Amino acid sequence: MEQTRRQFLTGACALVGAGLGAALLADSADAATGIKRKKNGQVEVTVAQIPDLQQVDGVVNLGTVKGIPTAVVCTGPSTYIALNLRCPHAGVSVRDTGSEWLCPAHGSQFELDGAFISGPAGRALAPVRSRLRNGVLTVG
Ligand code: FES
Repeated sequence: MEQTRRQFLTGACALVGAGLGAALLADSADAATGIKRKKNGQVEVTVAQIPDLQQVDGVVNLGTVKGIPTAVVCTGPSTYIALNLRCPHAGVSVRDTGSEWLCPAHGSQFELDGAFISGPAGRALAPVRSRLRNGVLTVG
């Protein structure tokens, strides 16, 4: 059965509309958790809306920020650091064990603030640029 031009356009519009709706829902969901992705690739973290950032050593994983696997760690009252989660040894993403970062590739260990503990990495996790203003941490 051959599809008419009208049927094709109606279907195409429905697909575009569904995609737009999904994108809007994703934006809303991000805003609800206090994490907002900006069009320029930066991520805005509204600290007060994220329970994990209300205590020292609390961690929130942002996924990738401008292509870099990134997490934010609360380092003190109203102080935070954004970390590049790529291990300095060979670039494998480190994992949060609850008390430290551990590289699954060769076992390097880092404090939650990124400081080097042990292993072949030999140095701390790199920071990702971030700025705190009016309770919003802009990362990237
Ligand atoms: S890549 Fe992390 S210790 Fe080798």
